[in-house]
Amino acid sequence: MNRLVVVSNRVPDLTASAQAGGLAVALGALMQRRGGMWFGWSGHISAAPAGVALTRTEHVDYATIDLTADEHESYYNGFSNAVLWPVLHTLPDLMHADRHCAEVYHATNARMADALVPLLRPNDLVWVHDYHLLPLPALLRARGVHAPIGFFLHVPFPAPDVFSIVPDARRLLRDMLAADMIGFQTPGDRDNFAAAAHRLLGAARLGESTLVHGGNRVRLGVFPVEIDPRGFAELARQNADSAATQRLRASLGDQRLLLGADRLDPTKGLVQRLAAYRGLLANHPELRGQVTMLQIAAASRQDVATYRDLRAALERQAGAINAESGEPDWTPLRVVARAVPRGTMAGYMRLSRVGLVTPLRDGMNLVAKEFVAAQDPQDPGVLVLSRYAGAARQLTGALLVNPHDPEEMAQAIGMALDMTQDERQDRWHSMWRAIEGTSALAWGRGFVAALINANRSRLDHAAANDPIPMLPAPAEPISLPLALH
Ligand code: G6P
Repeated sequence: MNRLVVVSNRVPDLTASAQAGGLAVALGALMQRRGGMWFGWSGHISAAPAGVALTRTEHVDYATIDLTADEHESYYNGFSNAVLWPVLHTLPDLMHADRHCAEVYHATNARMADALVPLLRPNDLVWVHDYHLLPLPALLRARGVHAPIGFFLHVPFPAPDVFSIVPDARRLLRDMLAADMIGFQTPGDRDNFAAAAHRLLGAARLGESTLVHGGNRVRLGVFPVEIDPRGFAELARQNADSAATQRLRASLGDQRLLLGADRLDPTKGLVQRLAAYRGLLANHPELRGQVTMLQIAAASRQDVATYRDLRAALERQAGAINAESGEPDWTPLRVVARAVPRGTMAGYMRLSRVGLVTPLRDGMNLVAKEFVAAQDPQDPGVLVLSRYAGAARQLTGALLVNPHDPEEMAQAIGMALDMTQDERQDRWHSMWRAIEGTSALAWGRGFVAALINANRSRLDHAAANDPIPMLPAPAEPISLPLALH
């Protein structure tokens, strides 16, 4: 079996009990079973990075590098999280672009490629993850790497006009196209990417899943990220009466629990969600003393101004809700701004009557799937889910809402609270059926198998000297200003 080399900005923190973010959760299963090497940022900043640090565990070798302060500021906080992240989530107004960040982003990717190449062995498979590393496939090829290279985008891909406002949009697309296989969470993300590659680079699409550009064939695929539903259900059962769950249950008395669990991130729709709850309480005085909302909002990326602003806004809004609707003996909203361990979260989810997963846009959102897995099938809670989360394609038994519309969300929460046990069971069964046969492991294996095929077929086409079909040029040039490289 070929060794699998996973490359991602964030590698799991081997000392932490709570991993914030879907990427580490999704890949953990595959790496534990298959083994291999995981390369990425150590999570540390140092003035003069010493090179690659190797940590060997039973199954996985972790190879990490430190970032310099400028790389951390410009590559991670700047270009990755203040340019690419908001634009890829179709929130371009939140973009803060500057040329220096763009340059350091490319230079840091080049330094990562320089550090990785000497660690690669013949017959390795390389799997690159997420928006921090868009240029890496091309940088590896330029350093003579012939191994199969796969790329998976965990976040959404926006419409071409939106993507084109990223500085260096064309160069980023061209660099991604050096991979054999590019994977997305949904068909919509794949189609947006293909349309952007066509309009910005003139790449041509053959059928659903092949792009041709610069004499190369690149395979496109859809691989919705999964959790381990049975494992998470078991974790929730084990934590149904844990000390933490018992304390929360005792603090609620007869009240029904509404639960949100997110990274504190502008894409998660937290301000709109709290506005929905505020409206619900204002219009339904009978709910006072009958419900409590718990929002776990794990602090994240606090060096980025938008994230700090969001935290301040949420704190203000939470204070306003409690001041406006609270009673001497009832606090309507509790906010916890840090991650809680997975087991504790699973217990909280099982205790909840309503799960609120209402991102403005989200690649997948594994919290939605975890909420379903955590429920007691006899007495399940109701999921209120954004239509713009990738998970909405699978979890059609949820109450699907427009996360920009607090009134619609308030109505859905009201429906969820009034829902009969029969309907709650029916909806839960339909969602459980959608995920019970899936697993994070199968997701990872599916991608790797598709990568091997894509690489074979590219080599076969090249060996056969197959002509690349002549295809029409893009219909009309995109109207927004572009940096040409
Ligand atoms: C999302 C991204 C991941 C990222 C995670 C946590 O899930 O897709 O690439 O690792 O958020 O964010 P952080 O900035 O802490 O790595």
